[in-house]
Amino acid sequence: MADTDFDLIIIGSGPGGYVAAIRAAQLGLKTACVDSRDTLGGTCLNVGCIPSKALLHASELYEEAHSGALAKWGVKTSGLELDLGAMHGARLEAIKGLTGGIEFLFRKNKVEWLKGHAKFTAKDSIEVAGKAYRAKNFVIATGSSVTPLPGVEIDHQRIVDSTSALELAKVPGTMVVIGGGVIGLELGSVWRRLGASVIVVEYLDQILPGMDGDVRKEAARIFKKQGFDIRTATKVTGAAKKGKKVILTVEPAKGGAASTIEADTVLVSIGRRPNTEGLDLAKAGLATNKAGQIEVDRDFKTSVPGIYAIGDVTPGPMLAHKAEDEGIAVAEILAGQIGIVNHEVIPSVVYTMPEIAGVGLTEEEARAQGEVKVGKFPMMGNSRAKTNREGDGFVKIIADAKSDRVLGVWMVASVAGTMIAEAALAMEFGATSEDIAYTCHAHPTHSEAVKEAAMAVTGKPIHV
Ligand code: FAD
Ligand code: NAI
Repeated sequence: MADTDFDLIIIGSGPGGYVAAIRAAQLGLKTACVDSRDTLGGTCLNVGCIPSKALLHASELYEEAHSGALAKWGVKTSGLELDLGAMHGARLEAIKGLTGGIEFLFRKNKVEWLKGHAKFTAKDSIEVAGKAYRAKNFVIATGSSVTPLPGVEIDHQRIVDSTSALELAKVPGTMVVIGGGVIGLELGSVWRRLGASVIVVEYLDQILPGMDGDVRKEAARIFKKQGFDIRTATKVTGAAKKGKKVILTVEPAKGGAASTIEADTVLVSIGRRPNTEGLDLAKAGLATNKAGQIEVDRDFKTSVPGIYAIGDVTPGPMLAHKAEDEGIAVAEILAGQIGIVNHEVIPSVVYTMPEIAGVGLTEEEARAQGEVKVGKFPMMGNSRAKTNREGDGFVKIIADAKSDRVLGVWMVASVAGTMIAEAALAMEFGATSEDIAYTCHAHPTHSEAVKEAAMAVTGKPIHV
């Protein structure tokens, strides 16, 4: 085999691509992974999950100290100030550590890192940085980028996307977030905690589309209490720069009188779109669907034999753990094993305070399919949450009325992102609400609220 010939070439080193590369190499395939960034790890490690969580953590610590919440625990602070430069330093350190970690894992597993932009020249070959490479199989894991909003041009200074919103050198006085989805609420939380007035402009009637109805209502209530100004059913029709300000024109989503909002910074966070530009898919005989995604079957096969696709570039939720699980499955399939991802059980988490998490069907989706029983337990009834003064939120379990099988679990709780793993595991094993209710949960933990919500499905929680 020539140096430029591989069993498998993966295009993109995000959580889908790098995980697929490592697993394929572990299983004995001669594997290369291409990425056009200077560091490995894709959107997630460089400009997504990790840097946003670093700032969420840091801003949470600042707010706890600044708002007097720490003082209520007897932890007095004086001379408190924000060192935004140091906060960005902590974010960059996290990125460096983790992207370097992937580089180490590539070396350890003998995955070859091809640096540059990949484009197909035929269905079995690509070109990267002027050099040709061939492989028996390809996995396209090129991820996604920010969806632009016509009329609101991103300049990365005053009108920012999620990447430039992570790098602001100064806390804005007023920040307008266009889109009340995951990015808007997470990054809006960061800058609100650090002192910005945050206005969220959402096109739909409610924030967080796709999530359970009760969760959306409770989240909006909590965010408003925190100081977010949430304007739903509102659309942005244009942006003009005036001095150091941006003047946004908005109007009711259904039409009506226009008004303006003045902002120091505008964050455009209305979704993401798949990256296929410049891949020369046509040379491989591939095309995208109307949404620009690469369609795949259950085994991640595209319409062209030998070419597979995973992660954000394919249909489904744009989540790092979905991409990772698909990466493992596709590598196992290519190594002759069985690789399966259960797309019915992919948890999703919004890392605000409190966190918001869900897995499986929403109550609305479940009711549309048949008769259900619902158990709900407030975090105020959970001893640990109440002691920690984290009483906002609830856990809700939706079960099939006849079989009692759990169909969906939704929650708003300070550590919901960690608690949801139990629900996903239960659903993966086809658990009933009774199975969860009769599983011993350690005390005192927030997770006891999951057990109590399961007990509430049959109307018998203890602590309410
Ligand atoms: P990506 O991570 O997008 O990686 C694709 C890589 O391919 C990129 O490095 C890209 O540069 C490279 N590439 C593209 N085209 C080519 C080419 N032709 N040649 C060479 N290289 C190419 N998800 C979560 O689950 N949890 C979170 O907390 C979370 N937080 C997020 C926060 C933000 C601000 C953002 C923007 C996203 C967040 N996400 C989160 C979503 C998550 O980042 C994505 O779902 C995930 O990164 C998708 O992984 P992927 O492997 O499909 O692609
Ligand atoms: P999103 O799809 O979560 O939210 C976009 C919001 O913008 C929606 O509420 C939508 O109704 C609204 N919208 C669309 N067009 C609009 C317009 N013209 N005016 C006003 N509102 C408009 O997308 P977001 O927040 O950009 O995130 C992109 C992706 O990144 C998500 O799909 C998510 O899966 C992923 N992500 C995941 C995170 C996590 O798992 N914690 C964190 C951040 C991003």
